[in-house]
Order: sequence, then C-alpha cells, then structure tokens
Amino acid sequence: MSTKLLHLACFMLFWPFVVNVSLKIVNGVVVEPHSLPYMVALESTINERTIRCSGSLIETNKVLTAAYCVYGAKSVSITLGAHNLDEKEETQLKLTSTNFTIHEDYEDDTHLNNIAVIHLEKEVTLTDSINTISTPTLEDLLVSYNDDTGLVSGWGRYNDTIPDYSDVLRKIEVTIIPYLACTISYLGQIKSSQMCTSGMQDGQNICLGDTGSPLVVNGTQVGIASYGSDFGCSVGMPGVYTRLTSYFFWLTRV
Ligand SMILES: *[C@@H]1O[C@H](CO)[C@@H](O)[C@H](O)[C@H]1NC(C)=O
Ligand SMILES: *[C@@H]1O[C@H](CO)[C@@H](O)[C@H](O)[C@H]1NC(C)=O
Ligand SMILES: *[C@@H]1O[C@H](CO)[C@@H](O)[C@H](O)[C@H]1NC(C)=O
Repeated sequence: MSTKLLHLACFMLFWPFVVNVSLKIVNGVVVEPHSLPYMVALESTINERTIRCSGSLIETNKVLTAAYCVYGAKSVSITLGAHNLDEKEETQLKLTSTNFTIHEDYEDDTHLNNIAVIHLEKEVTLTDSINTISTPTLEDLLVSYNDDTGLVSGWGRYNDTIPDYSDVLRKIEVTIIPYLACTISYLGQIKSSQMCTSGMQDGQNICLGDTGSPLVVNGTQVGIASYGSDFGCSVGMPGVYTRLTSYFFWLTRV
C-alpha cells in the first residue's frame, strides 16, 4: 500500500476531519505570519507532474526535505520567507537548485530513508522571516520523543472537500506515538528509522502531512513528514515521518 500512500501525501496536507459532530474545527490553524521562519515551500517537476512539498532551512545553504520531493527531479523551486504563497511578499526569497543529495538507500516503493538535502548556490541572508532550525545533536541520539507534542506546518491541502492547496501557512500540533503503536497500524512496515504521530486525538484526526514538512519538538526538528495512509483517515492511521536522530551521521556528511 505504501507507494500509493506517498503519492497522496504530497497532494494533501493536513487532512484532518471531525470525527464526531461536536463543532470542533480540526483543520490546522493559520500561523502568525512569519512565525516559523525555517519553513520552505518547494515545487519540483517529476515525471511531468508538479509536486509541491515543504522543507526546512537547516543551514544558510541547506534545505532539508523528503527524498520523495526531489527524487527524479532535475531542479527544484524554493521559496523562503513566505506566509502567503499567492502573494508577492517582500519577505520572500525565491531560488532554484539543481544540486541535491538524496539518501543513497532511499527506496521509492517503501519510502525508507526518505530524506534529502537541497544545496543552495549561495548562503542566504537571515532575516526576521528567514531563519534556520536546529536538528538533533549527538546527545539526542537516544531520545525517542514518545508522547512529546510536535508541531507540523505546511501549505498543502487543508480541507478534505476542497481540492486546493492552502495559500497561507498552517500548523497543527500532534502527539508522537511509540514505535509499537505505529508499526501495528502499518502491519509491521514501520522501521526504527521512522517515527509516527497520532492519527486521532481530541476528536481530531490527522490523516496526512505535507511531505517534507518538519516535525518540530521544543524548537528542534526531529522528523520529516513522509507519508500517511490512503485508507487511514477514517480509521485514525498515524502520520509517518523520517526520524532525524537516525540520520545524524548522514546529515554531518552532506
Ligand atoms: C553541490 O553542493 C555541494 C555542497 O555545497 C558542493 O560541494 C558541490 O560542489 C555542489 N555541486 C555542484 C554540481 O554544484
Ligand atoms: C471545508 O470546506 C467546506 C466547503 O467550502 C466547508 O463547508 C467546510 O466547513 C470546510 N471544513 C472545514 C473543517 O473548514
Ligand atoms: C526545551 O528546550 C529548552 C531550551 O533548549 C530546554 O531548557 C527545555 O528543558 C526543553 N524542554 C523540554 C520539555 O524538552
């Protein structure tokens, strides 16, 4: 099932829905403009299809994203400093890159090792709207982040009845769940190099995250949104992420 999962994942961002009829509106909330200055919007053309994803600025010349977002692409369009992608905001910086490092063991069918770094030609100048986010350090390598609350944000789909992407950046808070709970949901397909967030909490159900979106705990990016389930929304399937602590050494090399 996983190939289909990821294809969906890039088209749908934050597909929460109301599980019961309480008037709890569960779609992600629009962020305070430019409050998450590490967020990067990405667009690439893969097999003649336009793929929209998110990424994060981890160094002044490096954007971290999912391998899926650039695998097979010749170049990628990058927008930094954005809140509303449909507007020409003064804060925005648009770049293109043809230089990416995709994890050498990325598997397009299982989406294992779904991690890539996009190299920017020049270092970008940091502003109030463009800034880096930290990734786990050596001391964090054994941290599981289980039960921690993670922040995920992106410009993808935000309402299951509207096929459009969001023009503005939205965010949602989700709980990171233990490995066992996740791998049971995905019939044993989850590996220790992945991590998951709850598909169902407080009457809200996150089906899919924007591929490449950073999962942030206490100001540090700990995951990269990888995929959700195409039959998952109604059964509360977890969101699946690449676990950054598993790629600490890889990240020091790229
Ligand atoms: C790609 O980026 C890396 C890291 O900055 C750099 O070492 C390499 O020379 C770049 N490759 C090309 C073809 O520009
Ligand atoms: C989704 O869009 C539909 C159609 O515009 C609207 O009626 C509904 O309230 C929206 N749902 C949410 C959760 O915003
Ligand atoms: C969050 O980060 C701050 C500063 O890095 C640290 O002092 C604090 O203990 C962290 N909180 C949690 C819950 O990890």
